[in-house]
This record gives sequence, C-alpha cells and structure tokens, in this order.
Amino acid sequence: PDVRPLIAGNWKMNGTRDALSEIKAMADGILHSDLVDHVDALICPPSTLLYVATAICTDSPLMVGAQDCHQKQSGSHTGDISAEMIADCFGTHVILGHSERRTDHGESDHLVRLKVEAAHEAGLTAIVCVGETANQRDAYETLDVLMRQLMGSIPESATADNTVVAYEPLWAIGTGLTPTTGDIGVAHAFMRDELKRRLGREEGGAMRLLYGGSVKPENALALMSVDNVDGALIGGASLKASEFLAIYSVY
Ligand code: G3H
Repeated sequence: PDVRPLIAGNWKMNGTRDALSEIKAMADGILHSDLVDHVDALICPPSTLLYVATAICTDSPLMVGAQDCHQKQSGSHTGDISAEMIADCFGTHVILGHSERRTDHGESDHLVRLKVEAAHEAGLTAIVCVGETANQRDAYETLDVLMRQLMGSIPESATADNTVVAYEPLWAIGTGLTPTTGDIGVAHAFMRDELKRRLGREEGGAMRLLYGGSVKPENALALMSVDNVDGALIGGASLKASEFLAIYSVY
C-alpha cells in the first residue's frame, strides 16, 4: 500500500500488572519482525499501565498510547487525564471518540474535536473513531453518519501525521461480526474522498484509515487487503501477544 499501515491494539478496561508480560512479548515480537520497517504497531493499555508499558517498550518500535484524554491540559477535573500527561508518560497516541466513550459518557462530535485539538497541542497523534449503529446501517444511513462524525470530530488542522481515522461499525465491536469487504471498501473510499476534500489531496490521501470491529488472525488478511484500509484497531484480539502479532504479520 502507498500509506504505511498501522496495527493498533485497544485493551479497553482490561489489564493489570500481570498482563505486562503480554506487552513485553509484543515489544519483542515487533522488534524482531521482518515487517518492522514497513508496518507500525501501537498498543493502548489502560492509563494505569501507561508509564510502565512505555518503559517496557523503550528498545522496541512498538508504540504505546492511551484510550482517552480530557479536552483541557490541566485543572479541576477529578478522575481525568490530559493529553500532556499522556505525552509525559512517553505515550505517542490517544484514541478519541471511541463508540464506548460516545455511549458510556455521552461524548459528542464537538467534544471529540476539542479533545483531538488538545492531543495535537500536546504532540500526540489522535486516533479518531467513527462508525454507525446497527439501526443506522439498516436504514442505509452509514455514509451520512460517517460524514457527520468526520466533519464534527476532525479539526481542519488535522494532518496525516497527527491524525488517524478508525472506522468501527458499532455492531461489529466484540460480536464476531464484520461488514463484507465490499461494504468496508465503500465506507473507506467515502472517508478517503471526504478527507481529501476537507484537508486537501495530500493530507487526506496520506491519512491512515483503520478498520476496527472483530478483527482476528483468521480474518485479518481479507480485511487488511481492502482498498483504503491502512491497518486495524483491535480490541479483544489485542489482549494476547500471539494474536496481536499474528494480525501484524499479515502484511
Ligand atoms: O477499539 C477496538 C474495537 O472497539 C474493536 O473491538 O476487536 O473486540 O471487536 P473488538
């Protein structure tokens, strides 16, 4: 592919200290992979493990990121962490606008956009998640939803370096279901065109578009071969180093 792929893992609210051995195994696996010069890898553990995870990955190209940040850089926001704090822990990326944040915490496109701007200010790459519900899919609203979320969540200052988009249909997350490769191709081509229109041909053309939702070692090759799919955002299968590395290895 002309865009360097990114394989990203999202541990969600899973993982205590005993899971650090999985991160160590991932770091070693990526370091010794033949693909290391062509494919990027990122793991996003819960923020309680962030600092120690980046320490484990010091000598490996495996990057470490967080799963959310506040829109402000500091202040009276009990329980939140800022983009600056993630950068201070040597995190390089932050997932923003995941559907679980949008659902569990009522995050709007506007709030996600403020968080993306905060991430950029702290020097982080934002992974912005978009995707339709099953009802929206059944009503043929998928592309409208993607358009609305892209326009609302991605600031005009976004570049191919500081922003990644992840298409995650809500009905495909943790269900074992995935859209057909044809449907993923349509969604990704649509997002590519919208991003080019909004950010310019160069930035929009080079921005990485990940697919997420029930990516497993068994289906990864087919999913990653779709045009305009530049990698994966993996939930469940990223908890085990063996599965994460198997997906990384399809390139
Ligand atoms: O961020 C990751 C996604 O929500 C996908 O989760 O691979 O467990 O379906 P999953």
